[in-house]
Amino acid sequence: MNPIKHVAIIMDGNGRWGLKHNKSRNHGHRAGLKTVEKIIKISLKKKIPYLTLFAFSTENWRRPKKEINFLLKLLENFLQTKLNQLIEQKIKLKIIGNKNKFPKRIKKIINYSENKTKKNKKLHINLAINYGSKSEIVESIKKIIKKKQNVSEKKITSNLYTSDLPNPDILIRTGNTKRLSNFLLWQIAYSEIFFEKKLWPDFNESDYLKILNKFKIIKRNFGRI
Ligand code: IPE
Ligand code: IPE
Ligand code: MG
Repeated sequence: MNPIKHVAIIMDGNGRWGLKHNKSRNHGHRAGLKTVEKIIKISLKKKIPYLTLFAFSTENWRRPKKEINFLLKLLENFLQTKLNQLIEQKIKLKIIGNKNKFPKRIKKIINYSENKTKKNKKLHINLAINYGSKSEIVESIKKIIKKKQNVSEKKITSNLYTSDLPNPDILIRTGNTKRLSNFLLWQIAYSEIFFEKKLWPDFNESDYLKILNKFKIIKRNFGRI
């Protein structure tokens, strides 16, 4: 049985879900947040130590302002209303991505939430916002060069946002699209990938558990036979 240390998820399909229900794309984003809560709950129950959630990519700035502002507001509200719950559940929250581009208000609440949860050990949640894998890798290499060190796989890994985490065992993408959209390209070199047809707001506990169970019996070779 493979142990599960780290699950990464590309939470895709909110916008289509909203439209499918004759409502707005933003309605879908709100519904998607409920799925996030369900997945956190199961991850805790299954004692998965690391969960990385892709919430906003560096490319998502290309969306209409109205949608971007809604997503930022959703994040702000989530942190304001759920931070105590995260603390009670011993969850550590870390943002991966470039925080500089966010409005001051959001930066402040992100920093506050990270600080308040930094000592928690039960579940480490990485929320990827304004995250792009290629720029993460470039930044890592720049840091190595600046320190006048030799570029190696180990050094690139240890200068990424994810330096303190194991690589994802499982990568899930919902929303019926088979692509990686610039997510954790370096870290998923040996992850087991699950593409799910369901849109993120429809993805539920049993879908998640099915994936976790399938993963447990996969033969992982890492190049060996
Ligand atoms: C959610 O899904 C992911 C985010 C970028 C917040 P989408 O908003 O991409 O939904 P679809 O793929 O357009 O349906
Ligand atoms: C990937 O979804 C990013 C997130 C889930 C946050 P997108 O909907 O932005 O991906 P593309 O543009 O369809 O590849
Ligand atoms: Mg999408």
